[in-house]
Amino acid sequence: MRARKNLEKNNMPATQSGRMRPKVIVNCAMSADGKIASRLRKQTRLSDEADMARVHRLRNDCDAILVGIGTVMADDPSLLVKEKYVDEVKQPVRVVLDSKCRISSDAKVLKPGSRTIVVVTEGNSRDVPGAEVITIGSGSHIDLCLLLEKLSEMGINSLLIEGGGETIWSFVKSGLVDEFKVFISSKLIGGAMAPSPVDGEGFGSEDEFTQLTLKSTKLSDSGILLEFVADNFNK
Ligand SMILES: NC(=O)c1ccc[n+]([C@@H]2O[C@H](COP(=O)([O-])OP(=O)(O)OC[C@H]3O[C@@H](n4cnc5c(N)ncnc54)[C@H](OP(=O)(O)O)[C@@H]3O)[C@@H](O)[C@H]2O)c1
Repeated sequence: MRARKNLEKNNMPATQSGRMRPKVIVNCAMSADGKIASRLRKQTRLSDEADMARVHRLRNDCDAILVGIGTVMADDPSLLVKEKYVDEVKQPVRVVLDSKCRISSDAKVLKPGSRTIVVVTEGNSRDVPGAEVITIGSGSHIDLCLLLEKLSEMGINSLLIEGGGETIWSFVKSGLVDEFKVFISSKLIGGAMAPSPVDGEGFGSEDEFTQLTLKSTKLSDSGILLEFVADNFNK
């Protein structure tokens, strides 16, 4: 515990076991009614051009980007930084949470462009051309503290979580979110079953809620960016 406090005093986040972990930044885009995609869960463009440029700069500034296998299957993102948005491209490492190793060999995230790490649980490891497969946890549970410690050992000091809702929830539930950035677009999507930025089971009672502090608001052409920090970050 003392090791953790010392790391946090030096502005370096630590896990409960006192080991270094990357700073965790969540970024997502949602409709004005709080949905990150339609009920059909197909990729939906919600960011405007100015926000796309911001997202690519943010990616470029982070050492790694992480998504869940649900996003890989629904959106097939490449998770690469587009050159037109930044002066000097530094492609982050791409990380996919995929406990059962369901990733398709055609997934764009496995194509050249940057290093890709697929995280599976015990007994589910197999060769995935284009990726390194690492095993952390068992059953359907990837232990996120252990994963962050491992990423830190690999030299990853900042990790951008790009979704989807189940994955963001697993970081929120584990108390591992330091910054939360959400672009609110001027679209309405609707649907009780449409995904939202933080899905999963959700917290039941008020004393469990994650408290954020609003740090900035930025109006864009067709929406607004809200940037929060988690109140437990570096306290
Ligand atoms: N607007 C936006 O900013 C944005 C961004 C990204 C995605 N999206 C949308 O979000 C939707 C996908 O979200 P989603 O919630 O269905 O999927 P997701 O969060 O991308 O992936 C969820 C899956 O990842 C694995 N996983 C996540 N955390 C884990 C953990 N701690 N341990 C083990 N496995 C873990 C689990 O699959 P296994 O059990 O198989 O491992 C889980 O079912 C799509 O509609 C996509 O379009 C929107």
